[in-house]
Amino acid sequence: MHPHVAQLTLEEKASLVSGDSFWKTRSVDRLGITARTLTDGPHGVRYQKATGDHLGVFASEPATSFPTASATGSTWDPALLHEMGRALGTESKALGVNVLLGPGVNMKRSPLCGRNFEYFAEDPLLAGVLGAAWIDGIQEQGVGASLKHYAANNQETDRMRVNAQVDERTLREIYLPAFEHVVKASQPATVMCAYNKVNGTFASEHHWLLTDVLRGEWGFAGYVVSDWGAVVNPVRALAAGLDLEMPSTGERSPAALVAAVRAGELDESLLDAAVSRLLTVHDRFGEQDEEQPDFDAHHDLAKRIAAASTVMLANDGGLLPLDAAAGGSIAVIGEFARSPRYQGAGSSHIKPTRLDDALTAILATTDREIVFAPGFRLDGSEDNELLQEATQAAATADVAVLFLGLPDAEESEGFDRTHLRLPEAQYRLVSEVLWSNPNTVVVLSNGGVVDLTGIAGHTPAILESWLGGQAGGSAIAEILFGIAEPGGRLAETIPLALTDTPAHVNWPGDHGQVAYGERLYIGYRWYDTTRRDVAFPFGYGLGYTTFNYSDLRVQVPDITRPHAIVTLTVENTGTRAGADVVQLYVSDTEASVDRPLRELKGFQKVHLQPGERREVVLELDERAFAFWSEGAWTVEPGEFIVAIGKNSRDLAHQVAITLNTAKRAPVLDEESTVHEWLDHPVGSPVLQGLIGQMGPEGQAMLGEEMLKMLGSMPLRTMLNFGAQNAPEPIDVDEVLAALLQQSRV
Ligand code: GLC
Repeated sequence: MHPHVAQLTLEEKASLVSGDSFWKTRSVDRLGITARTLTDGPHGVRYQKATGDHLGVFASEPATSFPTASATGSTWDPALLHEMGRALGTESKALGVNVLLGPGVNMKRSPLCGRNFEYFAEDPLLAGVLGAAWIDGIQEQGVGASLKHYAANNQETDRMRVNAQVDERTLREIYLPAFEHVVKASQPATVMCAYNKVNGTFASEHHWLLTDVLRGEWGFAGYVVSDWGAVVNPVRALAAGLDLEMPSTGERSPAALVAAVRAGELDESLLDAAVSRLLTVHDRFGEQDEEQPDFDAHHDLAKRIAAASTVMLANDGGLLPLDAAAGGSIAVIGEFARSPRYQGAGSSHIKPTRLDDALTAILATTDREIVFAPGFRLDGSEDNELLQEATQAAATADVAVLFLGLPDAEESEGFDRTHLRLPEAQYRLVSEVLWSNPNTVVVLSNGGVVDLTGIAGHTPAILESWLGGQAGGSAIAEILFGIAEPGGRLAETIPLALTDTPAHVNWPGDHGQVAYGERLYIGYRWYDTTRRDVAFPFGYGLGYTTFNYSDLRVQVPDITRPHAIVTLTVENTGTRAGADVVQLYVSDTEASVDRPLRELKGFQKVHLQPGERREVVLELDERAFAFWSEGAWTVEPGEFIVAIGKNSRDLAHQVAITLNTAKRAPVLDEESTVHEWLDHPVGSPVLQGLIGQMGPEGQAMLGEEMLKMLGSMPLRTMLNFGAQNAPEPIDVDEVLAALLQQSRV
């Protein structure tokens, strides 16, 4: 217990667990307890000196606007996220920010979520590893993080009250693991609870989430802060495990807490525990020296991250990279080349220290003739003059580079998208430009994936640059001319159509309810298991060099234990340095439950010089094989496929292994079937003993033919049938209770 707790009055304790303003916590001067400042993140410091808001409306101080999470998620590079975290830490310190509100590790249940630009991936392992790296980086600088939004906040529609109906296995295997990984790996200073309900209870007062799981199972030692305005009832919230309500509610919440303690409705020890956690984190992430960050270095880092995030979806005929020194003109088409779309709308909105646009960067990178045409209006309205001008520019150029994307107004915190289309004027522009000049490169700027109909398969080169931050324009120029490579791999599947997406029929819910009817099957888990065609699969991306994988070996030290060491050799077989992401997927081919066809259970980004070979080692622990069943992680004995590849559908090498792990005995109960009894290590002999007393007729019931009919019958029912012909009356309930008692393991 923090030493200050015993010295604080009830009123002081009740005030400390409630914000003092929009961004600051309370202080208690007489004990030297000073306020702490929390502010957004997650891809830049949004510090507001004056009016506070959580929707990106009012001004904030200049800060480096890094690529957003859908971009950084595409790097698959924890080391880079760690560097980004460190830079955010120094910029936070300079502004006196003690906790930066991020990262967001919510799963991308549907590509329609307006906030997918702020989330890493459709896979919990990838999101968890990258989130942990980001947090390690920022917390090394003495600035706390706030892992968000816990939990099952996967849509913006009705986000402040919608009830996410999610079965426990799906929560455990899909929506919680990224949070679990980060808490266990990085001990974030804080976890931010979500606005929504989970299975009928608001996340802000969800004891199972906030106390049983987060603290009891995962060992979270920091404090839980509410999302801004997420607390419905401060007394229930504190009792459930929430430690800090933000923003301030003035004296309303503190007074309610004092009254509840005084009335015996709230145990004061819970308030003491919350205050202790708060003060412990305040001490750990306290006052900072405000050294001036190196904004130029951060801008260069943002550019490196933007390049490493960019996914090259196509490069037919090696159209890219362009030769900066060649003759021939380049038509740069699209308003986004001049007016970059580089961040999302809402609480994460940053005032950048500077902003590179691709057009200026291209002009600075090559002496070739550049002709610019805006091509379309950012508001998506039709403009035939712009269309004609752009088509003409393309027709007379050696190559056309077409900058497309989603306008700001199409995706944001606070609302979801209703379709995956780009503005229709852009599709017309693509068609006209391709007709005028087949040598066309399309560069996309969007937070969430978009419908590439008419673009993919028609355009020789496509670069998905996501929302690349303030340096995204110069990163794209460097990629176009081969100074940098597109280092990204898809962290979210690009579907062919919205109707193919897993949550389509259960999105976004209605009347305050949303059913996660697709269960485990989100992203590639859905598309691969249902063998559905996609535009581009999870993990996909091309580079400027080529790689070969060989010598895949999977060692299982002890087949009774779920543990394997996977090694392989990666070689850069191209002519220039580059990076590749080795991906490892596991399939459980003989499970007693349904499981996704394959799941990402390991990955490593390798940077190699031409001709360089490197051995990659990936370790698979129990969770790489396990599924959640009856309250525990379970690894069933049998065959597993370990596959290595470049994306979830290009798995060049795979090895089948067999694990002979102990089969976890199911818990027998009043409804257990005859088969379950006979499969049970303890229950079987107990039942056989009873049957043995029933003479030949009884034993006949266990014959092979009879078991085909009786096996799936609850034992209770069979005993009832048997009791019909018994010479003496049988109390079936008593017999069953005795059997269950004897079979308890
Ligand atoms: C917002 C967001 C959250 C943000 C907080 C403070 O509503 O949901 O991500 O950190 O409020 O702005």
